[in-house]
Amino acid sequence: MLALASSMASLSFSRAIVALAILVMLSLGSSDAQLSTDFYSKSCPNLFSAVKPVVQSAINKEARMGASILRLFFHDCFVNGCDGSLLLDDTSSFTGEKNAAPNQNSARGFEVIDSIKSAVEKACPGVVSCADVLAIAARDSTVLLGGPKWDVKLGRRDARTASQAAANNSIPRPTSNLNQLISRFNALGLSTRDLVALSGLLHLPSLSSFV
Ligand code: HEM
Ligand SMILES: *[C@@H]1O[C@H](CO)[C@@H](O)[C@H](O)[C@H]1NC(C)=O
Repeated sequence: MLALASSMASLSFSRAIVALAILVMLSLGSSDAQLSTDFYSKSCPNLFSAVKPVVQSAINKEARMGASILRLFFHDCFVNGCDGSLLLDDTSSFTGEKNAAPNQNSARGFEVIDSIKSAVEKACPGVVSCADVLAIAARDSTVLLGGPKWDVKLGRRDARTASQAAANNSIPRPTSNLNQLISRFNALGLSTRDLVALSGLLHLPSLSSFV
């Protein structure tokens, strides 16, 4: 379903909804009081200028990629917080999230996140978390597709493990009914209003009664 992606490109109303979505997402990702917008200002002053051109070139190749990256951030954040766990490949000690039901054959853009991380490592080796890279990439994607800009709070720590079961159970499904969607979002401190805004209204049949 490309509803959100295509509405990002065409409808300013939907853009506004996506804007709201991102702002809520941002607050979800930064509920920890230790996060701050200047977290890397001394340790990686060129962080933002390392990230943006890589996002730009990916979007130049395919505009949809910006939407795909935003979705990666959402799917990362819903499983044990915004900790980069979605980015981990399966290992001998765990089966990760990439091939969980909500992600298999649909989560995309991992190679773009890898390229961004490489650029960041070149600028500031061993400093910036993958979770923060994803959070910045989701913001830059939104801006580059014509959405709003916001300051990303930073300082997330990366997960060292991941759980396919947790991803299966935590990311809402397209077959979820409205009550299930509401409670899934409530569990993360997100209101019904946040749910509607974050989901862009158009993307799920069970939300259409709010339109
Ligand atoms: C409320 C529960 C949600 C459900 C059940 C849901 C479900 C889905 C499904 C089934 C797809 C299509 C995947 C495919 O065909 O490969 C999709 C696409 C997408 N979703 Fe959601 N979604 C939800 C909320 C959100 C939220 C909160 C965001 C971001 C703020 C988001 C962003 C996207 C984007 C950008 C796409 C298109 C991705 C691409 O083209 O690569 N979704 N969603
Ligand atoms: C996650 O869901 C998929 C698809 O339904 C299933 O094949 C897989 O076994 C589930 N993983 C776990 C750990 O429950």
